[in-house]
Amino acid sequence: MSFIKRIAFVGLQVRCGETIVQHLTNRFRFTELSHRVTQQSCQWILRQGGAVLLVSEMPKSSSERSKYFSAGSGQLLTKHRKYNHVHEFIDMNTYRGFLYDHPVTYPVDSACNVAFEVSSVDEMVARLRAAGCEILAPPHTVRDSTSQVSVAIVASPVGNVRHTLVERVDGDPAVLLPGFERDNPSGYCVQDSSHVDSVDHVTYALPAGQWKHVLAWYSKNFDFKRHFVNRLDDEKEGCVLQGVGVGMRLAAMNAADCTLVLAESIPGPGLNQVAMFLSKHQGPGIQHLALHSRDIVEHVTCLQNSGADFFKPPAAYYQQVLERNGASKFCPEILKRLGILLDVDEEGSLLQAFTLPIFEEDTFFLEIIQRCHSRGFGAGNIRALWHTVQAYMDG
Ligand SMILES: [Fe+2]
Repeated sequence: MSFIKRIAFVGLQVRCGETIVQHLTNRFRFTELSHRVTQQSCQWILRQGGAVLLVSEMPKSSSERSKYFSAGSGQLLTKHRKYNHVHEFIDMNTYRGFLYDHPVTYPVDSACNVAFEVSSVDEMVARLRAAGCEILAPPHTVRDSTSQVSVAIVASPVGNVRHTLVERVDGDPAVLLPGFERDNPSGYCVQDSSHVDSVDHVTYALPAGQWKHVLAWYSKNFDFKRHFVNRLDDEKEGCVLQGVGVGMRLAAMNAADCTLVLAESIPGPGLNQVAMFLSKHQGPGIQHLALHSRDIVEHVTCLQNSGADFFKPPAAYYQQVLERNGASKFCPEILKRLGILLDVDEEGSLLQAFTLPIFEEDTFFLEIIQRCHSRGFGAGNIRALWHTVQAYMDG
């Protein structure tokens, strides 16, 4: 049985937290639930339906950063190294470092934490330690007057990505994470009016040759099982998409309600989408977070009306949609206006739309996805977009 229950949050570490929080709340309709400001850290919790983000601000200059490390989370880590197997309570009155994430010096803004809610942090960490995994923060307890959780942080085999493990111990179930000041109590209601019902998947961008190692690591340590993306997905090769400007291998895995997708770069002519991420992000990491929407047309309309920018496929793509799918219940004109892609496979169909990058660098973005029985990840769309570009180039 898997220890993992669900994705608790996705963590972002950014140079200017306030700007990103404003961007995500104003344009992408996240609600700011709570914040935490100390001398060494600024953090915010945002929510959109079933998707939660933890935004942590990393100091900009190296001098500020070294001050942070010596006075902030460094204290926590030293303390826990000393009492390696003992649960320590974090005293909210004196603790000034990051909560629920481990600070990382990284040259660009980055989504770098997929936090899992687990059934037992102690048992999970014992298992990870025995397997030789790097524990960034040993089990500790965070509590305030409303609730209490057990927490630990483990490094992953993917670039700067780490996993915070969270076990709810007791207290008010409406409080996502104790230790923060509430900004918006009504936003704590799980059944909010958002279009988003859950995190559909998180996609990693990987350099060539890493996907099998990453699959094996998650399978061994977190009980993830391979999830075949379509009938072309081969057990040994994954789902390979190759052409000029498209060179990637897709493979997916899941545990309970968590799905991770691996997009591995395959070297070839032209710079493919994954290679572009690896270059701009300066290493492997989280390329995108997919939010499952109950009504993608209404949702994307709403986000675009708020000023969110989406990738717009070339007009020829929608001609192909018509040719491939004939008359369907989805109107190509509406899909085209909103930049929504349609993929039909043997099980059903899926609709997806991709935002432009969230950060200054061309790296992390959001995907809005609505599934109509399909369990794929849009491999057909990647192929169709490539054919569209290729046809255009061929005149
Ligand atoms: Fe995706």
